[in-house]
Amino acid sequence: MVRIKVPATTANIGPGFDSLGCALSLYAVIDFEETDAGLLIDGCEPAYQNEENLMVAAYDLTMKRLNMQRKGLHIRFHSDIPISRGLGSSAALLVAGSMAANVLHGNTLDKGEILDICNQIEGHPDNVAPAIYGGLTASLVEADKPYSVRYPINEQACFCVLIPNFQTSTHEARKILPAQVDFKDAVYNVSRTAVLCRALETWDEELLTIALNDRLHQPYRSQLIHEYDKIRQICLKHGAAAFFISGSGPTCIALSKHADFSKRLAEDLKQCRHLWQAIDLKADLKG
Ligand code: HSE
Repeated sequence: MVRIKVPATTANIGPGFDSLGCALSLYAVIDFEETDAGLLIDGCEPAYQNEENLMVAAYDLTMKRLNMQRKGLHIRFHSDIPISRGLGSSAALLVAGSMAANVLHGNTLDKGEILDICNQIEGHPDNVAPAIYGGLTASLVEADKPYSVRYPINEQACFCVLIPNFQTSTHEARKILPAQVDFKDAVYNVSRTAVLCRALETWDEELLTIALNDRLHQPYRSQLIHEYDKIRQICLKHGAAAFFISGSGPTCIALSKHADFSKRLAEDLKQCRHLWQAIDLKADLKG
């Protein structure tokens, strides 16, 4: 039996579309045990207790890489990562499944190979990379192969995640994006992404505010998130250094150096039409 603990992740981080990601202090803890008796998954909705489950898909693809075949598998699942909210719940399942197969069969694959396997299923590496390596990561894909590097992140960084009581689909949130972008907008994002990586380390708050702006996805996706403008105003009014959509949404993040930032928002969030849960998280650096 092996127990895998894998973090939630926030992808894009403003301008770094499909590249930047950060692991957060919110987790799924999953036990995997090989048995002689088919597939058994406890702890998740019945609709996910089957071969289609992403943990199983990643487990099987990893077994294939190891030239082995799965026999029976018992999975006991517990997760605090909300589903379809933009906090990397799918990536967490993929990473857990792949790491479990690897650990149970000799631990011969390195993190780069786990990343490659997970990216084959997910299609973009910006959630799986931080879930594997921990901390802040930047990733790219060349000829179907993902590459990731880690950046230091200031220990003051506090990610107040605002999770609404509605879901959005990543598929829909990708479909809404334009097929082409203006050259000036590409430059706007490239320059901000480069500066942001350093500003997250030094915690230059003026630079963070500017560098976290984005023209590639948030102007389109904010339309899919009810009360986006209102939530943004609330967070900025209470002193957030920056506000951005987590992954493809609908969760939004207020970045600040205040470890209890959610408390500042509590009264104003009560005035919203939708229920927004605010949770204070830190970057998870362990990997
Ligand atoms: N980079 C991805 C996107 C993350 O924004 O669509 C969502 O999983």
